[in-house]
Amino acid sequence: MSTPSGPDIYKRKALAEIEAAKAETDLERIRIEYLGRKGPLASMLAGMTQIAVSQRAALGAAANEAKRAIEDALAAKGAHLRDVRLADIAETEAIDITFPGPPLGRGHLHVLTQVQRQIETVLESLGYKVELGPEVETEWYNFEALNIPPGHPARENWDSFYFTPDLLLRAHTSPVQIRAMQRIKEPPIYIITPGRCYRRDAPEATRLPYFSQVEGLAVDKGLTVGDMKGTLLYMIQSLYGEERKVRVRPSYFPFTEPSFEFDVSCGICAGAGCKSCRHKGWLEVGGCGMVHPQVLRNGGIDPDKWNGYAWGFGIERMAMLKHDIEDIRLFYESDLRFLEQF
Ligand code: DAH
Repeated sequence: MSTPSGPDIYKRKALAEIEAAKAETDLERIRIEYLGRKGPLASMLAGMTQIAVSQRAALGAAANEAKRAIEDALAAKGAHLRDVRLADIAETEAIDITFPGPPLGRGHLHVLTQVQRQIETVLESLGYKVELGPEVETEWYNFEALNIPPGHPARENWDSFYFTPDLLLRAHTSPVQIRAMQRIKEPPIYIITPGRCYRRDAPEATRLPYFSQVEGLAVDKGLTVGDMKGTLLYMIQSLYGEERKVRVRPSYFPFTEPSFEFDVSCGICAGAGCKSCRHKGWLEVGGCGMVHPQVLRNGGIDPDKWNGYAWGFGIERMAMLKHDIEDIRLFYESDLRFLEQF
């Protein structure tokens, strides 16, 4: 029986350690220990010159055989340990695709959209139809057709953003009055037109360079200020409650004659006067009036046969009134703490 050679002894030791290894890191340690540059096999091969020539070939073969055996055992055990590890992960971290997911957060309509839809619903119940117009408008529809010729001082009130001298972002929804008359042609006309408007105003608590209005237009025979006031009273009480009162104050708009400012009684103090209404008891929501004969003419309607009333209210204003919101900028800051309240 031949005694085991040096390489053979290390091979057996290494294979036993590989057999017992529990983790891939153990294998790496074993590899460095036996096969590394400072390991026993390497130093044996390096010391070959010290031994008798007749034994060199046998030792070299034994050392190479031991090296290959250790490498094979390391690879086999490595593959085994990796399989075990992956099988373990597959079990403990398995994704159960039948497991119900976390509930999705439900969004809801923006408070301005809610208020706009409420206004639409109330007026539709009175027979008004929703009519939309472009936000990029011509100078003629935005001003001239509404009786505001070039150079008219009232243009200052509706300073807007111009693309060209003739094309601008509409400063109010009133131009849709003209478009509606031109499209419908034959009265009776009962329309409301909600939408975005733009003005050259710096943002502050009560105004923004972009905002929304809802315009109303009625063209029929023998309409009166009383019809207009009754319609608007109905709208306000439907939105805010029957205890609300409305009033009109004389004012001026080039496209109406007579013209009025339209106020709603303060919901906090019921008209007595408080901080919220600046002690007036009333809050202004917009303008209104009897459509100017020239405006009817510009829309292609004969003012000798027909007359009309119109109004233009700010939707943000109406939402602020409804929910006692003090700063218009809140509507556009997309802060969920604000939006989720409505
Ligand atoms: N367009 C006016 C504005 O933006 C509001 C307005 C006033 C509209 C009177 C009307 C009206 O239809 O009759 O200030």
